[in-house]
Amino acid sequence: MTRTALVTGGSRGIGAAISKKLQDDGFKVAVTYAGNDEAAAAFSRETGIEAYKWNVADYDESAAGIAQVEADIGPIDVVVANAGITRDAPFHKMTPEQWHQVIDTNLTGVFNTVHPVWPGMRERKFGRVIVISSVNGQKGQFAQVNYAATKAGDLGIVKSLAQEGARAGITTNAVCPGYIATEMVMAVPEKVRESIISQIPAGRLGEPEEIARCVAFLASDDAQFINGSTISANGAQFFA
Ligand code: CAA
Repeated sequence: MTRTALVTGGSRGIGAAISKKLQDDGFKVAVTYAGNDEAAAAFSRETGIEAYKWNVADYDESAAGIAQVEADIGPIDVVVANAGITRDAPFHKMTPEQWHQVIDTNLTGVFNTVHPVWPGMRERKFGRVIVISSVNGQKGQFAQVNYAATKAGDLGIVKSLAQEGARAGITTNAVCPGYIATEMVMAVPEKVRESIISQIPAGRLGEPEEIARCVAFLASDDAQFINGSTISANGAQFFA
């Protein structure tokens, strides 16, 4: 049976690696993206995976987009809530706008992505919900009060949904990446990045594919009894 997967923020960074891995594992995959048309078009050309444009922070857009994906490729069996942004600033400089942008995308965006697919998963008695959190949701991070709050909140969503979905054959799990070599991490000032890498016992950034393999395992039928868990992949930077 071919299962279908939706990956939000799936055309770049960790999301792109997840999408490709799920495709390699035999899933029919669709991705969403928010704004970078060029990157999304290049991703679709390379992979043959359709990229849908909507803002995960908007419930109505998400629900309409998901209905379109399901009409195109079939009911969604696996949803990977990966879309996320940073608006880093020390707390005394953080604006309400920076707070709300990150909350709306990273936290409310998970609700908006999972809520529309949940009833179908319950009916079909199968589902995989995988939320991409972060080491910074586990340990906190200087200049990321907003981001860390959302990523810690994601873990609360996962632990609650796991209990609600268990009898319906739906598992909900989190992956907490450490610092991974993506545009998001490369945007951190070089000096700060070097200092962060020096605190990673593995001595290097992670690769997006290392996160994709965690997601693929959680999406597989083999992972049915793993529910409400967090896989940390951070090169021993932090133990939850
Ligand atoms: N710990 C302690 N102090 C720190 C610090 C840290 N990690 N980072 C910066 N500081 C200090 C600086 O040394 C400086 O101190 P002084 O004032 O005494 O010189 C002060 O904080 C910075 O103050 P500024 O007013 O200069 O800060 P700024 O307004 O220019 O902001 C910044 C700079 C946004 C904080 C920048 O340093 C930065 O981007 N830091 C990285 C934050 C980070 O790690 N983000 C993670 C992004 S990757 C990601 O989020 C993916 C994931 O899930 C892992």
